[in-house]
Amino acid sequence: MIRPILFYPDKRLREPGKEVEVFDAELHQLIEDMAETMYAAPGVGLAAPQLGISKRLFIVDVANDDEEPSDLRVFINPEIIAAEGETVFNEGCLSFPGIREDIDRAERITVKAFDTDGKPFELEAEGLLAIAIQHETDHLNGELMIDHLSVLRRRLVHRAMTKRAAADAAQ
Ligand code: NI
Repeated sequence: MIRPILFYPDKRLREPGKEVEVFDAELHQLIEDMAETMYAAPGVGLAAPQLGISKRLFIVDVANDDEEPSDLRVFINPEIIAAEGETVFNEGCLSFPGIREDIDRAERITVKAFDTDGKPFELEAEGLLAIAIQHETDHLNGELMIDHLSVLRRRLVHRAMTKRAAADAAQ
């Protein structure tokens, strides 16, 4: 089931997610819905708080190209335990439709997390996958791409998104 995505400045995007403690059929259904919602958008990542669900859970699929097979990855209660190097990437976010901004990120990271069955794993990532994991981990902490921008860019993006929300509300 495709679920509605919250847009900035929805306050629920600012709530840190709670640890997932139960790895049951309900969680699996949520992950299925998240994947369906992300692919329909389409996007390369989606975090549970973007659907108004306060859980430390996100999915990414950076093989977002017709040439490549899909590569859906699920991260539950993730923690970035190492980060090195610097890179800049022009990022988008499903909660900021139409906005793309250059954002500084670590180039390589190591993340530990749990899979859908509650089994722990560790992953070293670089490139787009590393960027997506950092972006989605921010969502679990109530942090958003706008927080990484200069004061000027932040103001511009805030204004554009607020205007959009007002137009949506007027419909
Ligand atoms: Ni995002």
